[in-house]
Amino acid sequence: MSTPFMFGKLATDQNFTNRKAEIIKLKQNFISGINTILISPRRWGKSSLVKKAGIEVEAEQKSIRIIYLDMFNIRTEEEFYKCLSEAVLKAGSGKLEESLSFVRKFLKQWIPRITVSPDAVQEMSLSLNWEEVKNKPDEILDLAESIAIEKELNLVICIDEFQNLSNFKDPLGFQKKIRSHWQQHQHVTYCLYGSKRHMMIEVFTKQSMPFYKFGELIFLPKISTENWKIFIQERFLSTHKILSEQQAERIAMHVENHPYYVQQLSQICWFRTSIELKDEDIERSMESLVMQLSLLFQNITENLTNTQVNYLKALIDQVRMLSSKEVIYKYHLGSSANVSRIREALINKEIIDDQVAGNPELQDPVYKYWLKNYYFSR
Ligand SMILES: Nc1ncnc2c1ncn2[C@@H]1O[C@H](COP(=O)(O)OP(=O)(O)OP(=O)(O)O)[C@@H](O)[C@H]1O
Ligand SMILES: [Mg+2]
Repeated sequence: MSTPFMFGKLATDQNFTNRKAEIIKLKQNFISGINTILISPRRWGKSSLVKKAGIEVEAEQKSIRIIYLDMFNIRTEEEFYKCLSEAVLKAGSGKLEESLSFVRKFLKQWIPRITVSPDAVQEMSLSLNWEEVKNKPDEILDLAESIAIEKELNLVICIDEFQNLSNFKDPLGFQKKIRSHWQQHQHVTYCLYGSKRHMMIEVFTKQSMPFYKFGELIFLPKISTENWKIFIQERFLSTHKILSEQQAERIAMHVENHPYYVQQLSQICWFRTSIELKDEDIERSMESLVMQLSLLFQNITENLTNTQVNYLKALIDQVRMLSSKEVIYKYHLGSSANVSRIREALINKEIIDDQVAGNPELQDPVYKYWLKNYYFSR
């Protein structure tokens, strides 16, 4: 029997729950040409949500086509141009002949040095001196708009892990180039999403930055306990196993409604259930989840400085005034300037987040649990 829970891949179909308001919002933006910036901590469901909204829009509106570009393993500006143009050509036609005609028509500058070929897996592949393109990316950046007009389509370009542009040699220069083109596009809408909240906020809300006010900023919330309760119960039932509402609630609460972990913990519980879930199996499943991850957590912790670990200890103890004299003294945090440095370093490492300003929180609920019940209680 295949398990009714899924994690580590995009949540689709029956594995996808709720997000109704966010789906409506995204679809509206895609249809009305409003750029969107979607931000949430890791594994809260950004990619799944965008894909879901994209699939629905494409099914409902024949004139809209969605292009997905993942910057996860794009390390340079050159790679970005290559991936972007290939994705756009592919979405614009699908047929090699037509792609070639687009290249001839819209990438004139690069003829005859450009070649289009289906590569080993029949995906489109473009060869070009991308170093040169970097200096004159105009045609490439406008390719989507040109094709959209030609084919009387509206394109939506969804770029995942957008924060990775910070790995480029000149991130600011890159942003200036792309913004100056994208803001003129009438038939292409952009949806940019990623998890490094601080970096994303800086890029999109700082007046001096090229992407200032580029689109609507959406902070993805977690999925509520209420919703998880129903979801977990339904998924159990679909395989003729049962658990009570309270048990489903406890699973969700154990991992603070974190979507990835709710699915993972539910699955461990499900494996332990023959027909009816036992209370003690929830605790055992949680222990087992923590054990699976403990090596990873140990590594993360070993790579922190002593004061960073002390800071996490203070957070776990639910200390509020982290820069106060007493707290700095009690937790050996150095000085108040040091406290802000620690905070920033931990935010950069994506270990903590301060979505509510001045109220930093550990991002990973299972890491938090491990620190509290294993590491600090040793
Ligand atoms: N709407 C949802 N319904 C059910 N489970 C979900 C949902 N959204 C996310 N999940 C769970 O969370 C996991 C992570 O989702 P996803 O990859 O979409 O998140 P993400 O925010 O893009 O993560 P990352 O920051 O790592 O890119 C999924 O594999 C799934 O287990
Ligand atoms: Mg993602």
